[in-house]
Amino acid sequence: MDGNGRWAHGRGLARSEGHRRGKDSVRAVVEAARELGIPYLTLFAFSSENWARPGTEVRFLMSLLHRYLVTEVKRLMKRGIRVIALGDLERLPAQVRRALEQTVEMTAGNHTMTAALALSYGGRQDVVTATRRIAQAVAEGKLDPAQIDEQTVARELATGGMPDPDLLIRTSGELRISNFFLYQLAYTELYFTDTLWPDFRERDLLRAIAAYQTRERRFGTVETASPHRLRAAN
Ligand code: FPP
Repeated sequence: MDGNGRWAHGRGLARSEGHRRGKDSVRAVVEAARELGIPYLTLFAFSSENWARPGTEVRFLMSLLHRYLVTEVKRLMKRGIRVIALGDLERLPAQVRRALEQTVEMTAGNHTMTAALALSYGGRQDVVTATRRIAQAVAEGKLDPAQIDEQTVARELATGGMPDPDLLIRTSGELRISNFFLYQLAYTELYFTDTLWPDFRERDLLRAIAAYQTRERRFGTVETASPHRLRAAN
């Protein structure tokens, strides 16, 4: 979800206004995705590198997140959306962590869509943590190194139990992964748009999905699979 700062700057506003408006895009996209029957939607809301931003901006983002968790839970419940969180959650302020835990707990029984919030998340750190867990299991004699396969690694990542993403959308014209899911994106279709996140709404999501539906996914083989078949397979 990139481009909040530029959206605000272009209007002579403080960066916080871009983030505030970005929160409206989060609501719109979560609800549109749910309407479309998308089973998993991950929002990269705060990266492990974002802690290095000025304290005022970090505090603002944390308070925005807190407000979102507290005020959205009713809407999420009404729509049957389950919320989960990925990342180094220990670093979040206690108040945010508590609100997050409450939202996760309250929505745990919901089944229409899973909205995963990547918070204080870094793809490399995710791989490091998974590696440490696997090494620990080997050291304790619970795992034979010869048995380690792709599933073993996938299970130990923060996304363990989730399917790999079919589509990655990055807004604001940047053509980078920026330490998002590194292992998980192996065969994900990438979609980049110049639209800034605060302007990104349902129509933009539909455009991204329409582009995705024109892709031929080969997974390194010569046979093509339609995105629809793959959705079902995942
Ligand atoms: C990147 O834009 C955006 C962020 C670091 C924060 C994303 C947060 C939100 C969309 C709002 C709150 C989120 C939730 C889940 C309620 P940027 O600041 O890097 O923009 P720039 O590159 O134009 O400066």
